[in-house]
Amino acid sequence: MDKKVTVVGAGNVGATAAQRLAEKELCDVVLVDIVEGVPQGKALDLTEAAPIEKHDAHLIGTNTYEDSRDSDIVIITAGIPRKPGMSRDDLISTNAGIMKNVVQEIIKLSPDAILIIISNPLDAMCHVAYKTSGFPKNRVIGMAGVLDSARFRSFIAMELNVSVENIHAFVLGGHGDTMVPLPRFSTVAGIPITELMEPDRIDALVTRTANGGAEIVKLLKTGSAYYAPASAAVEMAESILKDKKKILPCAAYLQGEYGINDLFIGVPVKLGSNGIESVIQIDLTADENTALMKSAQAVQELKDLINTL
Ligand code: APR
Repeated sequence: MDKKVTVVGAGNVGATAAQRLAEKELCDVVLVDIVEGVPQGKALDLTEAAPIEKHDAHLIGTNTYEDSRDSDIVIITAGIPRKPGMSRDDLISTNAGIMKNVVQEIIKLSPDAILIIISNPLDAMCHVAYKTSGFPKNRVIGMAGVLDSARFRSFIAMELNVSVENIHAFVLGGHGDTMVPLPRFSTVAGIPITELMEPDRIDALVTRTANGGAEIVKLLKTGSAYYAPASAAVEMAESILKDKKKILPCAAYLQGEYGINDLFIGVPVKLGSNGIESVIQIDLTADENTALMKSAQAVQELKDLINTL
């Protein structure tokens, strides 16, 4: 393949993202992890599936960064996931240290890469990656909104018994309990869900979306969601690698947009070969704006915490 993506962290999210990138023939994949043998074993296993899955992507597993040289995109999943009873925010000090180390290694060999951050707490980890890399803001992007809106879309499809393909959903804000799903911009075949569902049902789906990650953690007991997070990251990577210019909700570094400054938070962005090519701004109602400001406040508190670590 003429494109290369490095995935750091060969755990559940990382290995699943590697599988999807290879099976869609988007790029060659380098899987990096600190645990000896795991990235090598997973890359080899995926390579041996290639004749059956019919792709020619090359996969390499490694414990060093040499093979990541000149990556177009680096997807960072390294870190510890949540256990039942933990919030994403409980992961902060461990994952901040890991993120800093990983980014320091990556930038030495791939100074022009676009970083897609997945490790939690997401918006705060984006900040660590942004500060550590010194990259311009268009090249540090957090994966949250695509996942959150996919969850919302799934729940709307289940509720109305229609194809998920007919559904678009819109989610703003931080990747946490304060995320802001926007029902008036969430549509089924172009029809806002506010015309198709009673307000109490919409509220129930919004609440389920905001708690979507915790619902999976509770069921799995030993880790957090990975199929949908990996799919979300790969959709972002595909839009960048193919310069598709999809509008996707991502965590972006804001400098005044939506009245928010110096903070990573989920907003709709255009993703192309330059990473974030623009932030799409829409007018919010007073209630929506209040919810977004509350979410921004929660992200700000985590960012302040990181500065004290
Ligand atoms: N460098 C490289 N890899 C690392 C490092 C490091 N410094 N530290 C940890 N890892 C690896 C672990 O060895 C493990 O294989 O990161 C991987 C994480 O995988 P899992 O434990 O399976 O976690 P996963 O479910 O993939 O979640 C990863 O994504 O959604 C978020 O909250 C989640 O922060 C978590 C991250």
